[in-house]
Amino acid sequence: MSTRFDPLPSTQPTADHIRDNILENPGFGRYFTDHMAHVRWTLDNGWHGHEVRPYGPLTLDPAAAVLHYGQEIFEGVKAYRHADGSVWTFRPEKNAERFRRSARRLALPELSDDDFIGSLKALLAQDHAWVPTPSSDADECSLYLRPFMIASEKFLGVRPSHEVDYYVIASPAAAYFKGGIEPVSIWLSTNYNRAAPGGTGFAKCGGNYAASLAAQKEAEAHGCGQVAFLDATENKWVEELGGMNLFFVFKDGRIVTPKLTGTILEGVTRDSVLTLAKDEGLTPEERHISIDEWRDGAASGEITEIFACGTAAVITPVGELVGENERIRLTAGGDNDIAKRLRTKLLDLQYGRSEDSRSWLT
Ligand code: COI
Repeated sequence: MSTRFDPLPSTQPTADHIRDNILENPGFGRYFTDHMAHVRWTLDNGWHGHEVRPYGPLTLDPAAAVLHYGQEIFEGVKAYRHADGSVWTFRPEKNAERFRRSARRLALPELSDDDFIGSLKALLAQDHAWVPTPSSDADECSLYLRPFMIASEKFLGVRPSHEVDYYVIASPAAAYFKGGIEPVSIWLSTNYNRAAPGGTGFAKCGGNYAASLAAQKEAEAHGCGQVAFLDATENKWVEELGGMNLFFVFKDGRIVTPKLTGTILEGVTRDSVLTLAKDEGLTPEERHISIDEWRDGAASGEITEIFACGTAAVITPVGELVGENERIRLTAGGDNDIAKRLRTKLLDLQYGRSEDSRSWLT
C-alpha cells in the first residue's frame, strides 16, 4: 500500500526515559505519542493534505459544526508488539469498513481503506517506539490507535459540513478495567436507553457514548463498572454495554450474542469471538436475548458464563447484573473457563503466538 502521508517529525519528542516510564504503567487513554496523522476533506477538493505531524492541540473555530451538532465518528484499533519486535494491527480493514458505515450515517465523507490503513501505518512508522512490549502471555499492553473524523466548517446551519478533518492519535494502553480479567459488575439501566431503531446505534459516533454517560454515572453510584442497555421499543431485549458487546455461554455449548438490529455496534472483537467460538466447538447464535432469559438462565444454571468484549476491553467476564431491586448472579460456572479460553486464543492471535496470526493481522 502506498503511503501518501508526508512526515513532519516532532522537534520535541518525548525523552526515552520518560516514554519508558509511561510504558511501564500506561493505564488507558491517559498518555499520547509524539505524532498524529491528519487528512483534510473539503467539498470542492475531496481528501487531501495527508500528513503526520507533531501531536498537539487542534485549532478549531468556535462555530465549527462538530462543537454544536456532534457530527463526529471514531474508531479503536490496537497495535501489538510481537516477540520479534515487529508491530501489527488486528483486522484494521474491519475498522475501515465500519468507519465508512459510521460516516454514511453521520453524513460525513467516506475514507478509503488505503487512507485509513495508510494513516495507521504512517503514524506507527513515526511512533513505533511507543508500542509496549508485553511482559508475559497474559499481559495485554498495546498501543491504542484512535482514528476520528470531525466536521470543522465554521457554520451554524444544520447541514452536512463542507469541511472535515480526519486524525489518528495513539495512546499506550494496559487493561481497560483496572481489575484486568477480574469479573466486572454491570448496572442494568432502566431509566435510559442507548439507541433506538433508525437512530445511530450501529455507528461509532461520540453521541452514542455521551448518551451512555448518565447511565454510567448511575452504574458507578451502585458500584458497577459498566452499564447494560435494553432495547428502546420494548425495554425487554438485551442490547449491549456502554462501550462493549455481550456474550452468554449456555450449559449445552451454545454461545449467544444479541443480533445486529441497527441499534447495536458491530464489534470487531464480537465478530472475531463468533469465529473463535466455533473453532472451540461451541455453537454461536446471534439472536434476541431477553432480560428475563438472563434472569432465568442465571438462576437455573442454564447460563454458565457471561462476558463483555471490545477492542479496549478484550474479553472480560461479567460477575453480576445489578438492578434497582435485584442482583442477578450466575448459580453455575464461576470459573469463566470459556471466557478465559477465548481470551487466550484472541490474545495469542493478536500477539503473533498462534499459527493463524498472520491471516488476522496487518
Ligand atoms: C473500543 O473498544 O475501542 C471502544 O471504542 C470502547 C471505548 C473505549 C469507547
